[in-house]
Amino acid sequence: MKRTHNNGQLRIENINQEVSLIGWVSKKRNFGSIIFVDLRDRYGITQVVFDESKFPLANELRSEFLIEISGQVVERKDYNPKLATGEIEVIVSEFKLINKSKQTPLLIQDNTDALEETRMKYRYLDLRRPIMQERLIKRAKIVKAMHHYLDSHDFIEVETPMLTKSTPEGSREYLVPSRVHPGEFYALAQSPQIFKQMLMISGFERYYQIARCFRDEDLRADRQLDFTQVDIETSFLDEIEFQTIIEEMVHHVFKEVMDMDIQIPFERIPFDKAMNLYGSDKPDTRFEMKLHDLVDVFQDSTFKVFQQALTLKNGTIKAIVLHEGASSTRKEIDGYTDIIKKNGGTGLVTLKYQDNQLSGSAIKFFTESEIEQLINTLGLTENDLVCIVSGPWEKSCNALGTLRTHFRDKFLDIDKNLFNFAWVTEFPMFELDEESNKIVARHHPFTRPDISDISELYKDTEGLLEIKAIAYDLVLNGFEVAGGSMRIYDGEMQSRFFEIIGFTPEQIKTRFGFFIDAFNYGTPPHGGIAFGLDRFAMILAYGETIRDVIAFPKNSAARDPLTMAPSLVDEKQLKELHLEIKES
Ligand code: AMO
Repeated sequence: MKRTHNNGQLRIENINQEVSLIGWVSKKRNFGSIIFVDLRDRYGITQVVFDESKFPLANELRSEFLIEISGQVVERKDYNPKLATGEIEVIVSEFKLINKSKQTPLLIQDNTDALEETRMKYRYLDLRRPIMQERLIKRAKIVKAMHHYLDSHDFIEVETPMLTKSTPEGSREYLVPSRVHPGEFYALAQSPQIFKQMLMISGFERYYQIARCFRDEDLRADRQLDFTQVDIETSFLDEIEFQTIIEEMVHHVFKEVMDMDIQIPFERIPFDKAMNLYGSDKPDTRFEMKLHDLVDVFQDSTFKVFQQALTLKNGTIKAIVLHEGASSTRKEIDGYTDIIKKNGGTGLVTLKYQDNQLSGSAIKFFTESEIEQLINTLGLTENDLVCIVSGPWEKSCNALGTLRTHFRDKFLDIDKNLFNFAWVTEFPMFELDEESNKIVARHHPFTRPDISDISELYKDTEGLLEIKAIAYDLVLNGFEVAGGSMRIYDGEMQSRFFEIIGFTPEQIKTRFGFFIDAFNYGTPPHGGIAFGLDRFAMILAYGETIRDVIAFPKNSAARDPLTMAPSLVDEKQLKELHLEIKES
C-alpha cells in the first residue's frame, strides 16, 4: 500500500479508482455487518467502508487509531454536503493498523468543551483538531504572503541576535547568565529595534525579519512571553510613504489569505481624536457608540463630582449612550460601574431616558437647561441609557472606552468578516509615569519627535509633554496589530532623549555608547514598524486569544503545561552559571 490521495481530495470524478489512504479514525459506526469509518488527516475526512466479514479487526478500531487502507472509490447513496468528499466513499479491500491510540483526554473535533489547561497539556492532540490546524495553516499563509510581498519589493531578510544587550524598550527583560563571563548577563531581545536601525546605518535601506521577541510581561489574551514580530525598517521615506508600503502589504495579505480586497489607504485617526471618540488608542471602528463631550453642557454645574473634574488641569466629562439600555437592571448597572472603576475611572453616573424624561440619582443636581442640552447633545431616543464619567481626561476616556467594548461584546453581533483598519497617529512623545512621576517615552526612546528644532527638547516638563511623536500604530478591529515610528537619526538628539528619560551621561555611555557612536557615520533618515504576528493571525483566523494561533503557548500563569517549563535545574548547571538560589 502506498498512499495515493489525502482525505480531502477524492471527488465524484475519482469513482471506480483504486486508492490508498492513511488517516486517524475520527468516527466509527456499525450498520449490521458494515462498518463506516471517517478517516481524518490534515486535508479533510473521507468515509471508508469495511465489510466486517472480511475485516473482523475493523470492529476493534477506536477513535484516533491510525490506519492505512486501500480500496475502490464509489458514489455514496446519500451525499454528505458537509464534507468536501461527501459524494464518495471508499470500499476497503486492504487494511493495516499502523498504531493504536489510548482514549484521548479531549475530543478531536472543532467544538470542544475541554479546559484550556487540558488542551495545552495535550497540545499535540489539541493541534490535531481541524480548527486548530486551519488556524496554524492560515498563520503560515500570512507569513508566506508577507515574505512574498516584501521580497518582491526589495526588502532584505536579515537575522539579528536573540542573546543581546539590555535595551530600554519599556518591558521587563529576560536575562540569561553567561557561563564564560561570571556575573554578566545577556538580555533576550524585546525586539530587534537597535539592530534594525544599525542595519539602516549599514545601508541596507529595506530590511525585514520574522523575529522572536521576549518580554517578561503579565499575560493577557493578546500577550505572550515569547511572541513573533514581523519587523520592518526602511531608509529615506517619510511616514506617509512608509505607511503606504505597509498598506499595500496588508492588502496583498488579505487578497492571498482571505481572498478579500480591503480598502486602502486606511483611515488616519490622531491619538487625541481616537481617545475623544472611542475612548481608546486602539479604537474598534466597526461600530458607532462614540463618546460625547459634556464639558460645555456642565460648565457651570453645581454637581460636586462634575465640578471637581473641571477643576483638574486636564479634566473632562464624557458620555456614551446605550440604546435600549434603560431597561438594565440594578445589578447590570453595578456591573458597568465596576468596569469603569477597574479601568481607571472615578465612577459612573447613569441616567435613563424614558417617556421623554431623564431619570437617575444625579438628575436632582442638574438644571432644566442642562437636562435639555444633555438630551440634545446626546440625541437621546426612548429607552436610552446614558453613562457619564468625569475626571482626568485620559483615564476617563479609557474607562468609558472599555465600557464601550463591553457593550459591543454583550449586545452587538458584528459581522465576523468585517476587518476595519486605522492608523492611530500623533501620539504624545512623552508621558508621566504615575508611580515615579518621571518622564518616560510613550513609544520607545528611538522615536523621532515632531519638532522643528532640538531646542524644544530642552523645555520644562509641561513643554515636553506637549511634544508629539512621529509614531503610528496600526489598529485592526480594536487590536494594536503593529506599532512603529520614524526614528531619531541625530546623535545629539538621541543623547538628549536618553537624558530626558532619566539616564545619566555615564549610563548613556555604558549602555548605549555603541549606538550613539553609530550615529556619527552618515546615518540615513529612517523609520519602520513591527507587526505583532500572533495578534494579526488571531484576528484573521477568527481566534479568541493569541494562544489560538501559537502552536505551543504559555498559560496565563506564564507556564507551558505541556513541558512544564519553567522548571528547576541541577545544582551543577547553576554552578556553571555562577548562580545560587536563595530561599525567599
Ligand atoms: P511594540 O512594542 O509596539 O513595538 O511591538 C510591536 C507589536 O508587537 C505586538 N506585541 C505583542 N504581541 C504578543 N505578545 C506581546 N507580549 C506583545 N508585545 C507587543 C503588538 C505590537 O503592536 N520595536 C518596536 C517596533 C518599531 O518601532 O518598529 C516595538 O517592538 O502587536
